[in-house]
Amino acid sequence: MYTYEAKKFNLPSMEGISDESVKQHIGLYEGYVKNFNAISAKLVEYAGDTEKNAHALSELIRRKSFEFDGMRLHEHYFEQFEGGSAELTTGSPLAQIFEKEYHGHFIEYFKAIGSMRGPGWAILYYDTVGKQFQAGFAGEQHQGHFVTLPIILALDVWEHAFILDYGAGGKGKYIDAFFKNLNWDVMEKRFVKASVQ
Ligand SMILES: [Fe+2]
Repeated sequence: MYTYEAKKFNLPSMEGISDESVKQHIGLYEGYVKNFNAISAKLVEYAGDTEKNAHALSELIRRKSFEFDGMRLHEHYFEQFEGGSAELTTGSPLAQIFEKEYHGHFIEYFKAIGSMRGPGWAILYYDTVGKQFQAGFAGEQHQGHFVTLPIILALDVWEHAFILDYGAGGKGKYIDAFFKNLNWDVMEKRFVKASVQ
């Protein structure tokens, strides 16, 4: 069984997202990694007697994807800030398809998705079949995904991402801060990789 290790992120100080908030958020991410490993190990044990462990097994199987998606989405999230803030390159393949699909309104549209009620993630995926984006909202972190589609941009809108800096009603301000700190080189690279699949 493969044991996952929490990644270390080389994060700059950010504008509007405090170091303390990031520190606590990284702690939550590390919890997902730890829980996923623990659940995986327990399931190996339960697999030896599925009849006896039927109830516990079904509960853990459900939790397993919750922990995995929490782990992987946070990795997408934090690496988007590595290297410091950098704007989307004018004329890049990603900028071109944004223009084609959203006519200059992508950020506004994505912010509206992020502002939806409930804990979850606003996620931009790229569909290599239709050669178009799918922007969606994953409830919590394991519901509503576009299966198999690579993730280009992931915005965590759980309260834990902003409550320390902005209070329970501060989601909008946090989302504005999120966009100020993005290193768009990361998303441009993800898009190039996704579009050649
Ligand atoms: Fe989070």
